[in-house]
Amino acid sequence: MEEIHKSKLFSAIQPSGAVTIGNYIGAIKNWVRLQDEYECFFAAADLHAITVKQEAAQLRKNTFDLMALFVACGVDPEKCVLFVQSHVSAHCELTWVLNTITYPGELSRMTQFKDKSARHAENVNMGLMDYPVLMAADILLYQAALVPVGADQKQHLELSRDLAMRFNNRYGETFTVPEPYILKDSGARIMSLADPSKKMSKSDENPNGFITMSDDRDTILRKFKRAVTDSDSQVRYAPEEKPGVSNLLTIYHVFTGKSIADCEKDFAGKGYGDFKLAVGETVADALAPIQQEKARLLKEKDYMNDILKQGAENAFRTARRTLSKVYRKVGFYSGE
Ligand code: TYM
Repeated sequence: MEEIHKSKLFSAIQPSGAVTIGNYIGAIKNWVRLQDEYECFFAAADLHAITVKQEAAQLRKNTFDLMALFVACGVDPEKCVLFVQSHVSAHCELTWVLNTITYPGELSRMTQFKDKSARHAENVNMGLMDYPVLMAADILLYQAALVPVGADQKQHLELSRDLAMRFNNRYGETFTVPEPYILKDSGARIMSLADPSKKMSKSDENPNGFITMSDDRDTILRKFKRAVTDSDSQVRYAPEEKPGVSNLLTIYHVFTGKSIADCEKDFAGKGYGDFKLAVGETVADALAPIQQEKARLLKEKDYMNDILKQGAENAFRTARRTLSKVYRKVGFYSGE
């Protein structure tokens, strides 16, 4: 039988707290869409998570929770490699090598590093600065051609591409240069419900700004009811002029699968109250089966642990091939 070689795809999420519908729309939903076309590797990025302070027991719980969520959202463990980043030591090993071709200036000017340094001024550590190099190692280890992420990761993806090309130029063809997969107009950047000029983020101090994947129906309806709109009354997509309403329309569009134009039509002549209620109900209806399935999987500990064990073994096999190649190219003695 002819073997079909699919291109590889890598993406990850940090198990650093509640997962928001921003993470779902910008990342997980697209993973599910792409999993038949690509050979996929998906990880819980726990090595990344410890660049800000984590409580150990909570990090362990969040990691298991996140993997159950991936599966509950439709990421199929029969088709994809699902694993915990720290289970595959090659991620740290390749990071070290890539560090030797990365310049401090490239890392200190990263927007996310600057933001996080400001937010965690008491804990500006080397890991926080080196975060994008670890991310490049994640991607390059699997020779990923495609990396589905939200728009906030674009700058990090550019560094991954630069490092792949720099290494290839210096040592000869080794890495696939990855392409980001970022939704074009809507969905790549879901905004805070409380302040639509800011990205929806799990680290927002105001819990009304984000909807988590485990929020219950009442919470979801309440948060949407409070969502900031504008003093106009027209449900129209105009991100510059009407950022709050446009963000809600985007969310409604993603969860209903209707075009933005059809979404606008649904609310022609209706007020913001009806609109916000409909968006809330749509999101609550879409999340309910995911929440149920996740609750079921959390109880299937052996099943989940098997997936993660298999995943780490499969990931290790692919990662090891790349790492061996890298070690050979840079001149590490192998004893042969
Ligand atoms: P993280 O955990 O911050 O976010 C996970 C994914 O969710 C996307 N995202 C959003 N998309 C749309 N709207 C939003 N408001 C929103 N907020 C977050 C992020 O872009 C991301 O795709 N560094 C990564 C994790 C990572 C990774 C990797 C990603 C580690 N190694 C290698 C890709 C490839 C991160 O912190 O994601």
